[in-house]
Amino acid sequence: MSAGPLFRRVAVIGLGLIGGSFAAALRERGLAGTVVAGSRSARTLEQGMALGLIDEGSQDLALAVRGADLVFVSTPVSAMEAVFQALAPGLAEGAIVTDGGSVKGAVIEQARRTLGAGFARFVPGHPIAGKEKSGVEAADAELYQHHRVILTPVADTDADAARRVAELWSALGAEVLTMAPEHHDRVLAETSHLPHLLAFSLVDTLARQGDSTEIFRYAAGGFRDFTRIAGSDPVMWHDIFRENRQAVLDALDLFSDGIERFRRAVSDQDSEAMMGIMSRANTARAHFLAMNTRSSYTRARHSDDETGMTHDSDPTFVVSPGGRLQGRLRVPGDKSMSHRSIMLASLAEGSTEISGFLEGEDALATLQAFRDMGVVIEGPHNGRVVVHGVGLHGLRDPGKPLYMGNSGTSMRLLTGLLAGQSFDTELTGDESLSKRPMERVAAPLREMGAVIDTGEGGRPPVRIHGGHTLEGIHYHLPMASAQVKSAVLLAGLYAEGATSVTEPAPTRDHTERMLTGFGYPVSRDGATATVHGGGALSGGRLDVPADISSAAFFLVGASIAEGSEVTLPHVGVNPTRTGVIDILKLMGADIRLENQRDAGGEPVADLVVRSAPLKGITIPEDLVPLAIDELPAVFIAAACAEGETVLRGAEELRVKESDRIQVMADGLATLGVEHEVYEDGIRIVGGAFGGGQVESHGDHRIAMSFAMAALRAGAPITIHHCANVATSFPGFATLAAGAGLALDVQGAAVPAGEGS
Ligand code: S3P
Repeated sequence: MSAGPLFRRVAVIGLGLIGGSFAAALRERGLAGTVVAGSRSARTLEQGMALGLIDEGSQDLALAVRGADLVFVSTPVSAMEAVFQALAPGLAEGAIVTDGGSVKGAVIEQARRTLGAGFARFVPGHPIAGKEKSGVEAADAELYQHHRVILTPVADTDADAARRVAELWSALGAEVLTMAPEHHDRVLAETSHLPHLLAFSLVDTLARQGDSTEIFRYAAGGFRDFTRIAGSDPVMWHDIFRENRQAVLDALDLFSDGIERFRRAVSDQDSEAMMGIMSRANTARAHFLAMNTRSSYTRARHSDDETGMTHDSDPTFVVSPGGRLQGRLRVPGDKSMSHRSIMLASLAEGSTEISGFLEGEDALATLQAFRDMGVVIEGPHNGRVVVHGVGLHGLRDPGKPLYMGNSGTSMRLLTGLLAGQSFDTELTGDESLSKRPMERVAAPLREMGAVIDTGEGGRPPVRIHGGHTLEGIHYHLPMASAQVKSAVLLAGLYAEGATSVTEPAPTRDHTERMLTGFGYPVSRDGATATVHGGGALSGGRLDVPADISSAAFFLVGASIAEGSEVTLPHVGVNPTRTGVIDILKLMGADIRLENQRDAGGEPVADLVVRSAPLKGITIPEDLVPLAIDELPAVFIAAACAEGETVLRGAEELRVKESDRIQVMADGLATLGVEHEVYEDGIRIVGGAFGGGQVESHGDHRIAMSFAMAALRAGAPITIHHCANVATSFPGFATLAAGAGLALDVQGAAVPAGEGS
């Protein structure tokens, strides 16, 4: 699609891959009236014309830029000064000059020396895109799409010129960032220039040794992957290392320190140090990739294949109507228990081997936080994690904010746990988490003597000041929240005396059970749980059962789709979590618990569900906290039931990953389901409904609930922004489709790699 020409006449100086792709994209999108190229090589200009990339070409650079309102210089950095000098006499007054050089400090100095008054309209830029192929024949109009372009304007750069260049790159499909040139050069030195230098150096070092062909004959995947970039253009990299000399040397020194640490660990046979370096690197890499692509840990971990592609930054689910669900479906590990398993195992003495761990983003955020605080954690590999506990007082200052992603449980429980540490910490989260209330945990912790600041409106970021003595309190929870209860109890491990929490209604008790499992006494008296500070936890084995909250989508799906029968093995059926089974059974669902047993202090069972006609009910309020996360799925069951279902006393739904009452109501309205919204609940009238476009607001449970609704819809349901399904249920789409849901995941592939 064209936004109309943004520039009348654009001159592209240097028609290699970068300049050629720029020209191609401008023409394809109709963003320039005329595209003219300047190049010393007549052959390149001929090729550019033949490929249809440019309208005109000139070997005289001053002529090439004559009359242009935008000039894009994409020659090697080492040639830029001469190029600026050559083109300067032809520059029209007011013309904007920008460039694609990968070192900014040096280019800015060259431009300052040569462009004279025109320097104010020079907008330094660097498109982070490329291919291993170079030259005009590799030009690709899509090269910049979904890639980043960094602009590094300086104090005297004209703001209007910078705005117009940013606008052009955005129109080319790129994401535009602005930063200081020194920052750009340092970041690039560390993340791009250093790896290239290392790859060149490793291959050269090995090649110099005696019979290198012998070595290379045995070199397998590791060597090939590590050295892939040593195939890049030596001339270009020579220039970059020269022009960004100081930043490259600094990065190399930093790396030398790291390699020396690793060397020492190997020579001392220090397994803990080696495991620490490598497991931190494992997750840090996933974390970087996730933040870079603004996608998820899980997708970053699993999708960066040889092509350097990572897929679908925020996929859409398109679910065709009808079908039924069948099979034996193992849903992932329990999210609440996975969080707690990492936290308590980290604080334990000795190691803990966890199986069934949920490799979803929320639990991985917790895992990363503990790695950042110095805990050595191996895995996860197929749900197996080994945590080398550091004891209650062994955590270390992470030295940076801990990023909790979408996970409220991580942030709230950690706030309690960190209140008792000797160091300061800051907890941050994504857009959704940054809107959620945190005073509910900060307030009782302050009563214990903790010093905690929350952000505007009591929301994240949460800043916890360490080094304060905590005193035990008796806290009456104002709302039924397991997160608040757990935060206070975890702080209680560090407090003097007894810390008790009384809850207004039963909430999940995994913290209490798991503490007991780690040998830390928790007493229970009616609605009150109590811990005494100063004890110790001891590591061991821990089995995390499948998550009933994830199973709930299949309980509902199989109930509403005629002819369905599904078995969900090894699901946690702790009585504080089974409200969804009770509610669905009251509605007439056919759900059986088979093979009930105990798994490390938590009851588990295989759930067998068959389709059955459902009827509307008034949901008993005492079941609400016991089914709080499953209520969105229950809304879909209600939409398929005969008669009306009424839910009250569920105001907590409004402060989950989204306002789940309103967001579900909006989706139900799209499908044509009659309903009435209350402040604390909803009334839903069951019956036939259609399809449409549903917005999940990035809330995993909303997305999966509406996916199941398609089993009974009259038309396809399209659900937007489903990336966060990976927070609790990685692999949902594959599992559901395999069971019979006509679910198609759509989303453009986004190249994650970068060129220079
Ligand atoms: C959780 C408690 C619940 C629940 C959340 C997980 C926990 O939150 O909604 O998904 O692991 O403690 P609240 O404590 O806010 O009810």
